[in-house]
Amino acid sequence: MNATRPAAVVILAAGEGTRMKSALPKVLHRIGGLTLVEHAIRAARQTEAQFVEVVVRHQRDRVVEHCREVDADLLFADQDDVMGTGRAVECGLDALPADLEGTVVVTSGDVPLLAGDTLLRLTEQHAADGSAVTVVSARVPRPFGYGRVVRGADGSVEGIVEEKDATDGQRAIDEINAGIYAFDVAVLRRALARVGTDNAQGEKYLTDVVRIAREEGHTVRAHVVDDLWQTEGVNDRVQLATLGRVLNERVCERHMRGGVTIVDPATTWIDVDVSIGRDTTILPGTQLLGATSIGEGCTVGPEVTLTDTEVRDGATVKRAEAHLAVIGEGASVGPYSYLRPGTVLGAGGKIGGFVETKNADIGEGAKVPHLTYCGDATIGEGANIGAGTIFANYDGMAKHHTTIGRHSFVGSDSVIVAPVTVGDGAYVAAGSALTKDVEPGQIAVARGTQRNIDGWVARSRAGTKTHAAAEEARARTGPPHTDDSDSTGSEGDGAS
Ligand code: UD1
Ligand code: CA
Repeated sequence: MNATRPAAVVILAAGEGTRMKSALPKVLHRIGGLTLVEHAIRAARQTEAQFVEVVVRHQRDRVVEHCREVDADLLFADQDDVMGTGRAVECGLDALPADLEGTVVVTSGDVPLLAGDTLLRLTEQHAADGSAVTVVSARVPRPFGYGRVVRGADGSVEGIVEEKDATDGQRAIDEINAGIYAFDVAVLRRALARVGTDNAQGEKYLTDVVRIAREEGHTVRAHVVDDLWQTEGVNDRVQLATLGRVLNERVCERHMRGGVTIVDPATTWIDVDVSIGRDTTILPGTQLLGATSIGEGCTVGPEVTLTDTEVRDGATVKRAEAHLAVIGEGASVGPYSYLRPGTVLGAGGKIGGFVETKNADIGEGAKVPHLTYCGDATIGEGANIGAGTIFANYDGMAKHHTTIGRHSFVGSDSVIVAPVTVGDGAYVAAGSALTKDVEPGQIAVARGTQRNIDGWVARSRAGTKTHAAAEEARARTGPPHTDDSDSTGSEGDGAS
């Protein structure tokens, strides 16, 4: 529990974000797998404030619904038709308990790299200085567009002027207002009541609180942040991409420092909630998204996209896409396979090349190596599914389940027309179209029997090179022998 815990954090998210040119409210755009406002909410929560509140207006229902989903304990305040950050905070205070005392922190819903730690440092300094207002500021090479921090001779903050209201001299100031503050709540309330809209934008500026607090004789100081990215806001999609890249660099760095090899961080995209074990190697072109977790000693990539997927220790995944799948210990996947939701690959199992799986429980050591669609299936341990096998799970009306027993063997190019159960230790002959169950120990042969028609090439392809080759071979080996015997002895021919 921290000694300078604020009473409330107010997150401003009422603005439209016009420059995004989007049907989606700005704060619902994402970087690192989280919406901009979710980043702000997480940082706010780290202060352990009693209340965390989001001020909404533009598309308020959509924003509120999303915020509730990510954090059920938030408060919400609706901003009315008076515009400006000052009005937004005023509406925010109105929705908080009237007897609230202590510190209120104000942040923005569009400053996603701001760390909770920075808010903790802000409230610590605010308390230590005994200030009524503490403004987070940064010295930047290009201050254009930001409010400038005007300091007095003693280093305290005298005021903040917006770009549009600034004199040429003030525009030369390189210390900007990051839009993040700690306020004494009583001073804030009183000052906001006095803030007007007489400025270039006709808005009620939160920044005017600084001047009013000074007039009342209170101390206002700045908390200077060196890590400039933490104060950067997203106003358009160029900034969204830039901050997304910086966030990703930070996430990759955290994993590398934790013992993960990332061969090319520039082409590796890792969402903030992903976990990766030590001695795992991530190869180029890989995206690890959502709640994906990867164990120790795995190799993932190149060109793998995993969403909400669990990869257990020692597994290998290359050139594959998986969503809501589990890849077992020491198992291997790819290249060029697609694991859809409900795929569970057992320890030491294999999903090879050009395989699509969905709702498929593939047992320990079982193999689906080549060119297969495997949907709605349970495959027992050690079973082998031959190349080109199709689990025909859909009859045009409903989905049906297939069960393949332990150590069973499905020959190549079979179609398994579900619902079908193949028992333990059974075989399905290559090229079968299976519609009935197979008992343990049986082989099912579900295809036309081979017929060899003698003399066909001589009759139908006379004079071709094929005919000549046949004649030459005949001259060496004599007349053909006709095989009428049951040919199932070599039926179970899976590729490998
Ligand atoms: C604000 C500051 C400026 C600072 C900059 C930092 C003021 C007057 N200016 O300017 O000094 O350098 O942030 O990024 O505060 N919002 C509302 N309701 C409103 C208007 C805005 O909730 O009526 C929210 C926005 O959704 C956004 C935040 O407040 O999350 C900042 O608003 P924005 O319009 O971006 O402020 P700036 O003009 O950039
Ligand atoms: Ca802004």
